[in-house]
Amino acid sequence: MPYEIEDGIFHIGVNDHNIDLFEGQYPIPNGMSYNSYIIKDEKIAVFDTVDQNFKNEYFNNIKEVLGDLAPDYLVIHHMEPDHSAAISEFLKIYPNVTIVGSKKALAMIGQFFEDVKDFKSVEVKNGDKLELGKHCLNFIAAPMVHWPEVMMSYESESKTLFSADAFGEFGARDSMENGWDVSEAARYYFGIVGKFGVQVQAVLKKAASLDIKRICSLHGHVLENDLEKYIKYYDLWSSYKSEDDSIVIAYTSVYGNTKKAVEYLESKLDEKGKKYKSFDLSRVDLSYPVSEIFRHSKVIFATTTYNGDIFPFMRDLITRLCERNFQNKKVSIIENGTWAPTAARVIQKLLENQKNLEFFDTVTIKSSINESNRNQLEELTDKI
Ligand code: FEO
Repeated sequence: MPYEIEDGIFHIGVNDHNIDLFEGQYPIPNGMSYNSYIIKDEKIAVFDTVDQNFKNEYFNNIKEVLGDLAPDYLVIHHMEPDHSAAISEFLKIYPNVTIVGSKKALAMIGQFFEDVKDFKSVEVKNGDKLELGKHCLNFIAAPMVHWPEVMMSYESESKTLFSADAFGEFGARDSMENGWDVSEAARYYFGIVGKFGVQVQAVLKKAASLDIKRICSLHGHVLENDLEKYIKYYDLWSSYKSEDDSIVIAYTSVYGNTKKAVEYLESKLDEKGKKYKSFDLSRVDLSYPVSEIFRHSKVIFATTTYNGDIFPFMRDLITRLCERNFQNKKVSIIENGTWAPTAARVIQKLLENQKNLEFFDTVTIKSSINESNRNQLEELTDKI
């Protein structure tokens, strides 16, 4: 259902409770939202479209807000299909609309929609303005947050930042009654945008001079209170700093012996009152430990030697971390191998090009933990 955010600004987005994997890989137990907005002024602008499965609801929402009026502009902040899928139908329903977007966004329309040949368009770049009446859009280039064509826009009358993917979160808006959920926002951030910290930092610097009262992302809630909190998280995450000093233990275990070492380690951390979270990588979607590892300052990888390498889920985790510029962490490794433990060497090799990693003791287990290992694990809890 559409609703009026403030005088003349409407939310016309949709909630998706049917999707199993966002972007074909991220489980989203609370669903997903695809947001779209309308500003109704002397000129009418619609901001982005929605996912392909929600076109009817989307056009009904537009109709409910505009009645028989037709939009003057369709502003394209981002061409990824979760926001652009209805462009072709939009042009059929509103053939006189002018599409507003970056040069790259306008070029991508033809790539996605073979049937779209001619349309009215205005190409905008960083710093350009579009007057709608009392509302005025100020465009901010945000390349690689999350694709190269991305623009944000700041509407100066209402002090609203239309932030494209930034400040989004996993979860349908009607499933997340407590508002912006930091864990799901972080899992979304590190999953979708985590590789592009430098580019997010560049946009945050551009936005720092703006008086922002509200953030309208393409996913999740409209953010109106405590904006400093959300911006602080984005600043931390995009600069690869940790939220706190706690520990993440990521482990794999084939027959339970490496798990017993982890459980012993956990018992010692409990005794010492140290905060940690543990993930059995074979039994969790890796987007959860990826996000938690980036959020906290210390990580312990515990894994088995496997085919002269490391257990596949651990290799996959480390690959995903490195793809997202894993850095600035304290790292320890617990390796297990019955005749030729190699996991620590493999992990160190995988991490050799990552910046600012501080390695603590490696604990080597031969098949199952012994007294010496127990002492080493206890020492590790003190050192880390
Ligand atoms: Fe929500 Fe990058 O698309």
